[in-house]
Amino acid sequence: MPDVLDPADPSFARDPYPFYARLRARGPASRVTLANGTQAWLVTGYETARTVLADPRFSNVPLPSVGRPKPDSPARRAQACLAQHMLNRDAPDHRRLRRLAAEAFTPPRVDALRPRIQELAQSLVSDLAGRMERDGTADVVDAFAFPLPVLVIADLLGVPESDRMDLREWTYRVGSPADALPPGAAEEAWGHLYTYFNELIAYKRLAPGDDLLSRLTHEPGEAAADKGELIAMAFLLLFAGYETTMNLLAAATLLLLTHPGERAAALGGDPRHWAAVTEEALRFASPLEGATWRRATQPVDLGAGVVVPDQASVLVVLAAANRDPAHYPEPDAFRPARYLTERQRPAPHLAFGHGPHVCLGARLARLEAAIALPLLFTALPDLTLAAPADTLSYRPGLLVRGPRQVPVGRVPGAVLASRSNQRATGS
Ligand code: HEM
Repeated sequence: MPDVLDPADPSFARDPYPFYARLRARGPASRVTLANGTQAWLVTGYETARTVLADPRFSNVPLPSVGRPKPDSPARRAQACLAQHMLNRDAPDHRRLRRLAAEAFTPPRVDALRPRIQELAQSLVSDLAGRMERDGTADVVDAFAFPLPVLVIADLLGVPESDRMDLREWTYRVGSPADALPPGAAEEAWGHLYTYFNELIAYKRLAPGDDLLSRLTHEPGEAAADKGELIAMAFLLLFAGYETTMNLLAAATLLLLTHPGERAAALGGDPRHWAAVTEEALRFASPLEGATWRRATQPVDLGAGVVVPDQASVLVVLAAANRDPAHYPEPDAFRPARYLTERQRPAPHLAFGHGPHVCLGARLARLEAAIALPLLFTALPDLTLAAPADTLSYRPGLLVRGPRQVPVGRVPGAVLASRSNQRATGS
């Protein structure tokens, strides 16, 4: 067991599960030192994860020194502003902000997005096919899994069509791992996004449309969000909604490319099969590896002699809880059939969290996957992985998890090719 955990270590990023399994065997929570010196308590078992996420003795509000840098540049102001979003708040403020945003995520509102998501996904699949035609290979993350959720959120927020390429580019830069961009590029993009959301909110005040930001800017009464909270909400919805959904679409695509039997079963089945693929991908390759940081506001006894001290930083590792063998037989196997019949159905996975901060966009994420995955694999039946699965690298960090790239090509007999790839990687 390493004394120091380095979340940027490529081999940890690729496969953190054996490490988490060892922590889980130790007890309900383990104290770990991160490479940046942070002392953290990691929760890796299913039951304790649910307990902590629902326990008000753990706060979501970061300490003033964490996440609230001095606002001395647009990028710093953007990051400071983000500290005001609902994921960084406790009740009662959290409830007020969540209620404001929740109206955009009711089942009728989300379901009404179906035709638009279909249209966007279709156009991105054509773009992906065009790239493969032109270059021989293309990256599913860049051409499909990244832009789809960004464009869906742009719709939801009411970003005008003419601004979407800029939004896409800035979002890409802000969300990219630090080593993927030239120095300063991410900072600059933070600044652009901050200025942009400021201007967009001012515009929505004058010329409201049928979108979430317009409704929020015209919300009457004391519960209404102030300007800083509105900007923070726009940032939160963009980043909570796109990075996670991107990782889900990328991971599910990779899993189907490396599990030809499951791919064939999904293609030959009904929508329930695709829903089962999505649920199992959420469990097996949880897009949010850890929930956001919690802070103990008093000593908390988690059982088995483990007491988390007052003010300790606690990370609930959702990806690890979702592989707890006490709840999922053969947890390290990708088996969509777990979710096919009511009788077999395992414990609900924690990929969307639990408790008061449980994901607001879960229905939207599931809808995007339900549209995007069948469309991709039906439109491109000869899609195949263009690199061995075990050479792909993963995003560093403890929060979001997913492959950085999923290179694909179109090869006649693709299913055969991916079958031999599966044998080679033992997956
Ligand atoms: C596969 C996709 C997604 C996954 C795996 C996911 C996962 C999660 C998780 C685990 C949380 C709770 C985090 C915590 O307790 O610290 C959360 C919260 C949240 N998610 Fe998602 N999410 C996804 C997609 C979306 C989408 C599409 C949206 C909206 C556009 C969204 C909006 C939010 C919001 C606003 C919160 C904060 C809720 C609160 O604090 O009350 N998510 N998400």
